[in-house]
Amino acid sequence: MTTGRAPRKNPKVEAAMSRTSPSPIAIEPVAGEPWVKLADGAALAHWTREDEIALNQANRQTEKYGFFVKAFDFLTENRVRGDYHEFGCHRCRTFRMALTEARRHNQDQMKFFAFDSFAGLPDAASDPSVELWKRGALATSEGEFMQMVREHGIYADRVVTIKGFYADSLTPALQRRFRDNENKIALVNIDCDLYESAVPVFDFIEPLLQEGSVLYIDDMFSGYKGSPAKGVARAFREFRARSRFKFVRHLDIGWWGRSYIAYIDPDGPAAEE
Ligand SMILES: C[S@@+](CC[C@H](N)C(=O)[O-])C[C@H]1O[C@@H](n2cnc3c(N)ncnc32)[C@H](O)[C@@H]1O
Repeated sequence: MTTGRAPRKNPKVEAAMSRTSPSPIAIEPVAGEPWVKLADGAALAHWTREDEIALNQANRQTEKYGFFVKAFDFLTENRVRGDYHEFGCHRCRTFRMALTEARRHNQDQMKFFAFDSFAGLPDAASDPSVELWKRGALATSEGEFMQMVREHGIYADRVVTIKGFYADSLTPALQRRFRDNENKIALVNIDCDLYESAVPVFDFIEPLLQEGSVLYIDDMFSGYKGSPAKGVARAFREFRARSRFKFVRHLDIGWWGRSYIAYIDPDGPAAEE
């Protein structure tokens, strides 16, 4: 395990955030009618690429957090007990959301597994449409990740990292160990961008699923121009065809993600896409 420091505050991002924090949609009277209050030319006169990125990030993180609030409420209300698995952990943003909501729901038995290369993406063989998705992109070291977990201060002693590229790290032996020693999955966050990254993840989690497990598929519409025939959406479609579980569509997360709930119904028709 490396021991890098977690990245500190970035003044440029802070300045952009102060100009861009998303506000709820407001209505103003225009031409005698209630119209949506929009930023106009004057308000956007000095709008930069940095502002655009900060606003997108703010919107995306807000939507993701909204999902975690609802997902943990679903788990508690339905008494689905088990662990949290995250495949694609990078800056610890969604992982921290899971820790916070787990604490709010007094999930005192839950363990939190962070699966990542901690060295960024592998080579992409599946031709994603996002230029940034190159080998080594989106890298956060294991030390930096754990530093962020510790600074967050929730259930840090129950966070376990599993380091390595999935094609190597998600071995049958590790799967057996999880099957024998750990809880089933309550919530799994699959946030690893690439088709070839998601394929071994789905196979790994299959025996750890239970009725009521929530699957958050972050990249349902990202990275491959939204095509369901490519990317993580394709990996999930292929997995559904071979899984002993069925999956009912549950929540939409922004324009990019979707969650499903695993269930067993050997005779019934498959749930809608
Ligand atoms: C979009 S980032 C995850 C963002 C993270 N959930 C957050 O909220 O900060 C994608 C992550 O997936 C990891 N990843 C992608 N493919 C992988 C693979 N085949 N094996 C291991 N890690 C992988 C990358 O290292 C990266 O940390």
